[in-house]
This record gives sequence, C-alpha cells and structure tokens, in this order.
Amino acid sequence: MQDYESVKLLSEYLLMHYGKDEERMPWVIGGIGSLDFVSRTVEYFSPKRVGLSLDLGCAVGRTSFLLTKTSKKVIGIDFSQSFIDAANTLKEEGSIAYKMHEEGERWVDAVAELPPEVDPEKVRFAQGDAMDLPAGFKGFDRVHASNLLCRLPDPLAFLDSLPGMLADGGELVLATPFSWLEQYTPKEKWPQGDSWEWLQQQLEPHFELVRDSDEPFIIREHGRKFQLGVSKVSLWKKRAS
Ligand SMILES: C[S@@+](CC[C@H](N)C(=O)[O-])C[C@H]1O[C@@H](n2cnc3c(N)ncnc32)[C@H](O)[C@@H]1O
Repeated sequence: MQDYESVKLLSEYLLMHYGKDEERMPWVIGGIGSLDFVSRTVEYFSPKRVGLSLDLGCAVGRTSFLLTKTSKKVIGIDFSQSFIDAANTLKEEGSIAYKMHEEGERWVDAVAELPPEVDPEKVRFAQGDAMDLPAGFKGFDRVHASNLLCRLPDPLAFLDSLPGMLADGGELVLATPFSWLEQYTPKEKWPQGDSWEWLQQQLEPHFELVRDSDEPFIIREHGRKFQLGVSKVSLWKKRAS
C-alpha cells in the first residue's frame, strides 16, 4: 500500500492544507513562517487570468482550489484515491471532517473547509499517475507540481514530459525539497551532484527561468512532532517550440 493511502497521512495533509494556524503549529518557537506553503507556491504564477491549469500531485486539493481564482478550469491529479476522495468531498460539500493526531491513541476532531474566494465548480479531481497521463494532457496554460518530483520513480522522465503538457508561453511552477528516498526513487535515478543545478539543466532547453526561491513548509505529525522542510520553488515560462 502506498503511504499516501493511509488514514494518518490523509489527516496530516488535510491539516497542512486546511487546519487552523494554532493546530498546525501550537508552539511559538520556530516554524510559523513555514505555514501556508500550499498557498505560496500558487502565488508564484503571474497574476494574469488563464484558461486551463493542471495540478499534479494535488493531494487533498487546496492548491487546485486556489488555482481557480485565475483559471477558467483546473484539473487536479493525485495517485492517492483517498486524497482524491477527500478533495472531491471538499468540492461537493465545502468541508470534510477528519481526525487530527494529538498523541498515542488520542485523536482530536477537526474540520477542513474550502479556502475563501475559490470556485469549486471549476475543478475536476481525478486519481492518476503523473508519469502516465492520458495522451490528451497537452496545451495547458499552467502546470503546478509541488513536492512531487522526489516522490516519483523516474524524476527525469517526468521533467522530460513537461514541455509536451504546456502551451507555448505557458507557466510551470515546480517545488521540491529534493528529498531523495529509495522508497520512492531508485538510487540510479537520483541526480548526481547538486539537484538544483541538475533541475535547471533539464528544464532550460524548453523553459526560461523566471524566478526561484527557497520556501519552508511544515507538516504536523502529532502535537509534539513536526516535519519541517525547505523546498526550492521555481517559476518557468515555456519557450516557443
Ligand atoms: C509530498 S506530497 C505533496 C502534496 C501537495 N502537492 C502538497 O504540496 O501538499 C506528494 C503527493 O504526490 C502524490 N503522488 C506521488 N506519486 C505520484 C504520481 N506518480 N502521480 C501523481 N501523484 C503522485 C502523493 O499521493 C502525494 O499527494
């Protein structure tokens, strides 16, 4: 079973995407600046309005919903059926009840709610594999892939598929903490040397780098354990082919 099918990770990601600040980080020391990573990556896109956006590895959907603010239509794809089911419940009902892990056997009732000013009608969520998308997945104005790359079995093959998905002039936001783990990516598929240099080398033939920065993110595991990471987030514009 994929980790992302587990009830525990569903809870962690619902909390990360929709939880209250004090639930996600109850300690005043450290970490507050790491909240809202899932909103910050979407803000890398230019403010202009576009037609069609694709959110790969959308998890429980917050970024897909946020993309509706500037997109006519958004498709959110994730490998995990339970994440997609939760995103669809949020789309249909505007909220979803879940349990937040406090400690040991103690779980606390929580409710995730849609962020304001989004249009759930514009989003379609589907379970799918970012490495094996339908042939018709091309001509997108925007592709968002946040913290997905180092969860894939063949990151280079995924990067190679991106130019085919985007329209000329289309925007790509890629976020990754370069957390290479054999559990997801066989070692022979890990980049050699500096991962950020490798990523730029792979994308530059087809994309122009617009901006990049380091963005912290935090995932609450239980009331006294937090996973803090720092993603390299980059905005790219597809060159004319
Ligand atoms: C580290 S999480 C990041 C989720 C979300 N983008 C965020 O920033 O909160 C990785 C996500 O990618 C999904 N995923 C892993 N492999 C995938 C694949 N081959 N195709 C689509 N989604 C995948 C997982 O189910 C999970 O939701």
